[in-house]
Amino acid sequence: MKGIQNLRVDYSGKKINIHTINNNPINEFKIWFKSAQENNILEPNAMTLSTFSDTSGINSRTVLLKGVEEKGFIFYTNYNSRKGVDINNNNNVSLVFLWKEIEKQIIVKGKASKISKKESKKYFESRPRKSKIAAWASKQSSEIKDEKELNSRFLEYEKKFLDDKIPLPDFWGGYIIVPDSIEFWIGRKSRMHDRIIYLKNNDDWVIKKLYP
Ligand SMILES: Cc1cc2nc3c(=O)[nH]c(=O)nc-3n(C[C@H](O)[C@H](O)[C@H](O)COP(=O)(O)O)c2cc1C
Repeated sequence: MKGIQNLRVDYSGKKINIHTINNNPINEFKIWFKSAQENNILEPNAMTLSTFSDTSGINSRTVLLKGVEEKGFIFYTNYNSRKGVDINNNNNVSLVFLWKEIEKQIIVKGKASKISKKESKKYFESRPRKSKIAAWASKQSSEIKDEKELNSRFLEYEKKFLDDKIPLPDFWGGYIIVPDSIEFWIGRKSRMHDRIIYLKNNDDWVIKKLYP
């Protein structure tokens, strides 16, 4: 078996034509996302979300993108989780999408804010019943003192909402990340990768090419 230091893939990706790409990075993102879907990438909407807080530093984790709007990128979570606390203190975040199989990476930097209750409710209602119960049962990111605790909380909420519609918890909902910059990366031969970055300038986007 090869040692880690000898693992090496020579990428073959195409060049990104800076003259023909979209003026708007969200539209460019949608084209790249579609190509990830067409190439059957497993969970192309999985993204690494990094947050920062003065007390615990940088925290990264994977979350699922659940919407792309003209304004930005939406995901759902527990507002009391570590990421929720981080965002409450500092709403600057980054997202990284890595689609290795098609040799692409997208990095978004921007500001996160809560979406409306109405929008969160609409999404929450579309989730399977057990996922709704799990949202109620999980005190996401808090310590579990007794192993049985989570299971018994799940059963407790299952019982509580037995024949009822499960309401949206106050502590659960979506965030939208409004981008300040979006970088598109494509792997090319001999590490001569292509990188194009869109930087927000008032209402416009400035597009630059970066060294790999
Ligand atoms: C593929 C994948 C998708 C995930 N999607 C979400 C998600 O959409 N929302 C969420 O709150 N956690 C999601 N998680 C769990 C998070 O990675 C993380 O464990 C959890 O949100 C707690 O993070 P925190 O303690 O930093 O707040 C996902 C994990 C994986 C591996």
